Amino acid sequence: IESYAKELKAALRQYPNFPSEGILFEDFLPIFRDPSLFQKLTDAFKMHLDKAFPGTKVDYIIGLESRGFLFGPTLALALGVGFVPVRKAGKLPGECVQATYEKEYGTDVFEMQKDAIPAGSNVVIVDDIIATGGSAAAAGELVEKVGSKVLEYDFVMELDFLRGREKLNAPVFTLLNGQEEGLKK
Ligand code: PRP
Ligand code: MG
Repeated sequence: IESYAKELKAALRQYPNFPSEGILFEDFLPIFRDPSLFQKLTDAFKMHLDKAFPGTKVDYIIGLESRGFLFGPTLALALGVGFVPVRKAGKLPGECVQATYEKEYGTDVFEMQKDAIPAGSNVVIVDDIIATGGSAAAAGELVEKVGSKVLEYDFVMELDFLRGREKLNAPVFTLLNGQEEGLKK
């Protein structure tokens, strides 16, 4: 995993002052342009999950809109389990469960189809990055609302100075190192 992570990290591209002044944006999209890196991203998460939960079956991978959709389905396929999307409100048909979370300006709502996963399932929630942890915490709420359990939250990157993981009540795994506050400006 370490050598994969090192290679993946080298592929990240930094954009200063995006999306706003003073923010150093880490773009992980170059990983997907190179099939061998994309494969390594998938394999690294799979290796981690196989090791972290040897006796417990992961039943579903839950991906958060929209960047969690880029590798959640691929990881699910590699594990031989289902993929379920959590989407921003109003995008999904049928009965949905909802959870509200704080964004920079005001609040946002996440939804998941109510019958997407049977009660008692073990799920792993994936996304590109954890910042304040608000999105991930809301996704965790949705999983609890349908009577299932979050085994772990898996991210590619983490802004550790925001302490987002403190909002989550399941283990957190970040594939690439967290970003130090020093990098912010
Ligand atoms: C970004 C990022 C994470 C979330 C992290 O998504 O992709 O999903 O913010 O922030 P948090 O930990 O403070 O909740 P964004 O809401 O910008 O939407 P996108 O993925 O659709 O671009
Ligand atoms: Mg997102």
